[in-house]
Amino acid sequence: MLTFSGVSKYFGGMKAVSDVSFGIEQGAIHALIGPNGAGKTTLFNLATGLVRLSGGQVLFGEHPLASLEPHQICRLGIARTFQNIRLFRGMTAIETVAVGTNTRFHYDIFTAMLALPRKRRNEKKAFDKAEEILDFVGLKKKSNYLCYELSYGEQRLLEIARALATGPKLLLLDEPTAGMTETETENVSDLIKSISQKGITVFFIEHDMRFVMGLSSKVTVLNFGTLIANGPPQEVQNNEAVIQAYLGRGGALNVGG
Ligand SMILES: Nc1ncnc2c1ncn2[C@@H]1O[C@H](COP(=O)(O)OP(=O)(O)OP(=O)(O)O)[C@@H](O)[C@H]1O
Ligand SMILES: [Mg+2]
Repeated sequence: MLTFSGVSKYFGGMKAVSDVSFGIEQGAIHALIGPNGAGKTTLFNLATGLVRLSGGQVLFGEHPLASLEPHQICRLGIARTFQNIRLFRGMTAIETVAVGTNTRFHYDIFTAMLALPRKRRNEKKAFDKAEEILDFVGLKKKSNYLCYELSYGEQRLLEIARALATGPKLLLLDEPTAGMTETETENVSDLIKSISQKGITVFFIEHDMRFVMGLSSKVTVLNFGTLIANGPPQEVQNNEAVIQAYLGRGGALNVGG
């Protein structure tokens, strides 16, 4: 579904991603792991048009993504969340999600200005859809809260809801559980399973190894911009290069406990 072939990204002389090749299969819950600065977020940015390739190719199905703008990639069916929360503080939860659905609406500026029936119908549709999605992520009761009134964990869920509102085939989540409590983390794990059951392919970056190993069908490991392992979780966990990459990093691969 998503294929990275020989992908490289340089920032000045610094290799953030270097000749990386692997694919995300349709229906997968695919994890991307690696130490800080390994190039994980850069790979997401390359797949969503936020930064440009220095080399190689990213294909979504048959579509090369290299020259597309973020909104065009979104329209093809790739949505994402960010490592750091990006919400408009003054918007309510439901407005935030309703706006996300707009990538599927194409009314023109005159219809919008005149509040014509078609616009009102579209708005109603957007808010109904938004409410359904808020319910799905467990935020229905918070629909009318302003973003900043939500807890940190709820804000992260809202970002997932906004991404889902665009109707993606592939959802990219950049550290969805960062800063969450254990209970919130378990909720996100269940949510990702439900998203997957809806037929949406999930590609996520995560540092919590217990979360990764319990959830993923496939794991890709980056280290200093290079792919060092790619395979089923059990295989990756026992990979010598992966163990070496994580040694002395606080036992990040310790999945016990
Ligand atoms: N826009 C940019 N300009 C310059 N350097 C960048 C840019 N984006 C990323 N980098 C550098 O590229 C390298 C990879 O960064 P990236 O954010 O992809 O890592 P990461 O694996 O997501 O790390 P983390 O786990 O800390 O989020 C880092 O050295 C980073 O400083
Ligand atoms: Mg990152």
